[in-house]
Amino acid sequence: MQVVPQGDWKRTHNCGELREGNVGAKVCLMGWVNRYRDHGGVIFIDLRDRYGLTQIVFDPSDYPDIFDIGDSLRNEYVIAIKGNVRNRPEGMANPKLPTGMIEVLVGEVKVLNVCKSLPIAVNEEGDEDERVRLRYRFLDLRRERMQKNLIFRSKMNKVVRDYFSGKDFLEIETPVLTKSTPEGARDFLVPSRLSKGSFYALPQSPQLFKQILMACCYDKYFQVVKAYRDEDLRADRQPEHTQIDLEMSFPDEEDIFSLIEELMKKMFKEGLDIDIEPPFRRMTYEEAMLKYGCDKPDLRYDLEVTDVTEVVRGSDFKVFEKVIASGGRIRGIRVPGGAAMTRKKIDDLITYSQKLGSTGLAWMKVNEEGLQSNIVKFFNKEKQQGFIREFGAQPGDLLTFVAGRAADICPILAAVRLEIARRMEMKPLEEFAFAWVTDFPLFEWDPTEKRWAPMHHIFSMPRDRDMKHLVDPDSDDYDPAKVYGRLYDLVLNGVELGSGSIRIHNTGLQQKVFDVIGIDEETAQERFGFLLEAFQYGAPPHGGIALGLDRLLAIMCGESSIREVIPFPKTSTGTCLMTGAPSTVDKAALREVGVKVNIPQEKQVDET
Ligand code: AMO
Repeated sequence: MQVVPQGDWKRTHNCGELREGNVGAKVCLMGWVNRYRDHGGVIFIDLRDRYGLTQIVFDPSDYPDIFDIGDSLRNEYVIAIKGNVRNRPEGMANPKLPTGMIEVLVGEVKVLNVCKSLPIAVNEEGDEDERVRLRYRFLDLRRERMQKNLIFRSKMNKVVRDYFSGKDFLEIETPVLTKSTPEGARDFLVPSRLSKGSFYALPQSPQLFKQILMACCYDKYFQVVKAYRDEDLRADRQPEHTQIDLEMSFPDEEDIFSLIEELMKKMFKEGLDIDIEPPFRRMTYEEAMLKYGCDKPDLRYDLEVTDVTEVVRGSDFKVFEKVIASGGRIRGIRVPGGAAMTRKKIDDLITYSQKLGSTGLAWMKVNEEGLQSNIVKFFNKEKQQGFIREFGAQPGDLLTFVAGRAADICPILAAVRLEIARRMEMKPLEEFAFAWVTDFPLFEWDPTEKRWAPMHHIFSMPRDRDMKHLVDPDSDDYDPAKVYGRLYDLVLNGVELGSGSIRIHNTGLQQKVFDVIGIDEETAQERFGFLLEAFQYGAPPHGGIALGLDRLLAIMCGESSIREVIPFPKTSTGTCLMTGAPSTVDKAALREVGVKVNIPQEKQVDET
């Protein structure tokens, strides 16, 4: 096959553009051979580019000289053609394709490039392993699904930028090579050649810079920005992810909520033509934990957790009584229509909960006469009425119960809740269920390290009413467990989409928080001195949020993994299968940056 240069040929149209109005025009198209069909000696090719497909025709009765070239074309060859647009013959039109009413009769052709035998098909979804797709990402990205997702991503980026610019936010870039300022995950480190032995860190987020920008009076900042975290990966976590990051001066929570709600409304309208109706539901962290067992509840399903400890207390059911006596709780979920579940199905649910660490899952069926199960006899009539009342139970329901320490049973109930929705094939209440979860505890006790740790990040403002539990370690009121922060998460369909807070803007209060988590003044200076110093020169009250763009787009595109909306993602072990990163580097390059690697070479490569 002879490959020829493009020469002075110029595209007149792209492959998604021609319509019946172009019939009779002489056009020049360039693109990839998507599919080749030989119909009785006439060759039909779907020519593809990112705009669409156009059917082109090689007909030996019209142009015999180029027929051999047409006949030799194979999938993914890159060609240029000149020809005439004509109506497709009667019965051959394809109304599903935007260009489906016309075709181009090829008069001249140039083969601009050929293509090797393909390791994965481009013109259809394959069922190959995702690793193969990631290895040949340069082919996988040509596929319709990935093109659709990336084009959608680009469109949404524009919506985001237009939205914030229209509201007077400034897009200000923050450094990628920066100081290591831990935010919960491990840092990716970059050795410095000029200061040997010193390292930059890649930012886990622009958190400190955006706060400093507020101290610098920029008032409203936003950025669509990469954040880098060396953490264990899962379907919704990548070592580098993109955030829609923003910060405002003088805001309160409501300012942030309405700003983000309007953004969501805009993105869903412009991206999916779906009307989202703010304000979103709001609930405190405590309420979320109690009703759904987790701080990112999936509110598409009308199932809630009910605490029935007080109804149970004093019953003859020893198993529950023992748990209550040791400070535990009895909580359960009403399964509407669950009484129809077979014994086998209930047993499966019990096994599921046990795998999550429960000691068991007690249950009662609700029928017209009352409750029925092998444990009902341990509860007197009054208590049985109590269950029906607290759960709001109806005949036909199944009541389930898990007993244990609140901290232990919450995650079990959260997972059982979703498993019930799945097994009962429950219809979602809505397709996109947003919620704000607010008032998170500022600190959580780390039992292994035996110290307080920040639950989100350390720059969040405590609630006014909780200050008394924080400011004076010698006072009787002092109790970090009782300090809640002005923190908020945006949750969508059970996914944490974003997280933010009103920040501390005064150095004294910031040090109080550091004191709780064991960062003394010297360490604070060494790690965050630049922020603390900036705050001493008149920092305004400020607050902000960052949304995980990859997670949002995955949900909007109906994808279960964020890898499907990221052009070049890493595997779960942090490898790029296309480039082979991370890779070893020359000894000389290491010497230059003053780094000595102590691990045998073969051990450094874990996957490719
Ligand atoms: P946070 O750490 O909660 O907050 O991150 C904000 C949002 O970013 C997304 N996200 C991720 N997405 C994919 N892969 C990851 N590894 C990953 N980590 C986080 C989540 C998350 O809600 N500086 C603060 C924000 C602030 O307070 O303004 C921050 O980064 O959707």
